[in-house]
Amino acid sequence: MRPATIADANQYWERYYSGEFIFGLGTEHILAVLQQIPPARTWADLGAGSESLLWSIPLDAGHLFAVDLDPHRLALLRDYAAARRPRGAYQTALKLCGRNADDFAQRCDRLAATIIADCLAGYPTPLRAGCADLVTQFGLLGLATSHAQFLTSWKACHEPLAAGGWAAGANWNATAKHGRIQLSQQLYTAACAETGMTPLLVTRVPITADPDFDSVWIYLGRKT
Ligand SMILES: C[S@@+](CC[C@H](N)C(=O)[O-])C[C@H]1O[C@@H](n2cnc3c(N)ncnc32)[C@H](O)[C@@H]1O
Repeated sequence: MRPATIADANQYWERYYSGEFIFGLGTEHILAVLQQIPPARTWADLGAGSESLLWSIPLDAGHLFAVDLDPHRLALLRDYAAARRPRGAYQTALKLCGRNADDFAQRCDRLAATIIADCLAGYPTPLRAGCADLVTQFGLLGLATSHAQFLTSWKACHEPLAAGGWAAGANWNATAKHGRIQLSQQLYTAACAETGMTPLLVTRVPITADPDFDSVWIYLGRKT
């Protein structure tokens, strides 16, 4: 069974970041963690969906390669990048990160390609090994249905990461599990160990603003 994302492309687009910024979803914590990452020339965002540009705000990242299985979400992302205007929650994210509308437009222009690929099947993404200085995923690996799938997908997802490169992301713990795995410090530690990565931060933040999720695990690591 293919793991399910919480909402389809259009519902997701409307529900999370279109309107006012929702504090208590973990977003503000993730933005703060991403601000710690040094400039990256090439960034791969896996399970990007329509929202890579939100996570681009705290980053100073060059070419963005957005990878997702769902072409509709990637089309939303491309159209949004072409429009170059931050909507609802993005405007607050810009303020939280000390950026402005011009910074956002600049980030939109850095969307280099959208790529349709399955990132949870355990085989490599279409991105060349070692091509990215930064690999992120937000809400992708938490869709794994077993620890084994999490670990094999983590490995495949981080193949594009260059030596010395940075990895960051977040995964939400669903309140109703529906076949989803229970995320834990041990799981992230094992994933990092198997991929030659030093975990610099693995933290669980409680979710207060969405009954569908009870917490979010946020991580930051570096490939040695
Ligand atoms: C919870 S959403 C997160 C989207 C976005 N990263 C964000 O931060 O809002 C999960 C994303 O993973 C994508 N996805 C689900 N299964 C996938 C797979 N097997 N390979 C690649 N992407 C997948 C979905 O299409 C969706 O865009």
